[in-house]
Formats: sequence, structure tokens, C-alpha cells
Amino acid sequence: MPDNVNGGTRVDLVYEINAPVHPEDVNALNAAVGFRKRAPERVAGALAGCTAYVTVRDGGRLVGIGRLLSDGYLFGYINNMAVHPDYQGRGIGRRILEMLMEQARDLEQVFLYTDTADEFYLRYGFERSEKRLYVYRRH
Ligand SMILES: CC(C)(COP(=O)(O)OP(=O)(O)OC[C@H]1O[C@@H](n2cnc3c(N)ncnc32)[C@H](O)[C@@H]1OP(=O)(O)O)[C@@H](O)C(=O)NCCC(=O)NCCS
Repeated sequence: MPDNVNGGTRVDLVYEINAPVHPEDVNALNAAVGFRKRAPERVAGALAGCTAYVTVRDGGRLVGIGRLLSDGYLFGYINNMAVHPDYQGRGIGRRILEMLMEQARDLEQVFLYTDTADEFYLRYGFERSEKRLYVYRRH
């Protein structure tokens, strides 16, 4: 899918929903933005178990990802939003979010957690929740 032009070089980025992706590619992308790596089988299982995920490729290179977990009716949760630093600031994250929100169009509420991209989400219709986030950690 033709996308933007960067430095005079045409960049053809491919955006896909639930396309096959190698867990090590996801780990590499996540590491590039400071997210922790996980065992490949856990990465693969988490992708298979989510409602929808978006991948963005430049040629064969995975440069963007985002995931949606949803019950199909009431609530959804967006996570693992990552765009490789070399590709940030070109509208890729916005497009990933739009694709995930299209998948979430029938839900009453979509949640996410961030401590790094507040302004990004505020810009696209999210508001800061008055409720506090609680977590039960096993790993
Ligand atoms: C957050 C992230 C997914 C956004 O992807 P991106 O492709 O860089 O974002 P876009 O180019 O679509 O940005 C759209 C707009 O949001 C702004 N924006 C992007 N990231 C932002 C951030 N972290 N904080 C505030 N604003 C941000 C951009 O400046 C841009 O504004 P502009 O159109 O006025 O230039 C990406 O920067 C990233 O992977 N960051 C590191 C990992 C991370 O923090 N993920 C989110 C955890 S929930």
C-alpha cells in the first residue's frame, strides 16, 4: 500500500490485520522502543489470543505493531503499540490506532495504559480515566 515519501525516497508500507508475523520480529521491534522481550512461544501465543493485531512492514521489516483485546460487545483493551524509532512521526502510529479502533467499533469502551504517549492518545479521542489502574503481576 503506497504510503508517505521520506527524504525523497518512496516508502511503501504494508498495513495488515492478523497477518503472520515472526515472534522474534515482534521482540526486536518491542526492544527497539524499550518494551521487554518475551519467550517466542509467549509472544506467538499472545498474538494468536488477541482479538486483532495490526502489523506494518517496510519490505520484509516489521516497523509497527498494535494489538486489541476485546469481548466483542462491551470492553476492549489496546496494547503493544510500537513504531520503530526510525519510522516514528510519520503517521504510522495514528494509522495503527485507527485500524484497531475500526476493529473495536461496536464496543462501549476501549481502554489503554500509557506513561509515554499521553498526548498521542488524547489527540485521537481518548480521555484520561478518573479510575486508577490496578494490576496483579505474575511475570
Ligand atoms: C507512540 C507511538 C506508537 C506513536 O507512533 P508514531 O508513528 O510515532 O505516531 P504518529 O506519527 O502517528 O503521530 C501522530 C501524532 O502524535 C504525536 N505523537 C507521537 N508519539 C507521541 C508521544 N509519545 N507523545 C506525544 N505525542 C506523540 C506525533 O507528534 C504526531 O503529531 P503531529 O501530527 O502533530 O506531528 C510511537 O511513537 C512509539 O512506538 N513510541 C514508543 C513506544 C510507546 O511509547 N508506545 C505507546 C505505549 S502505550
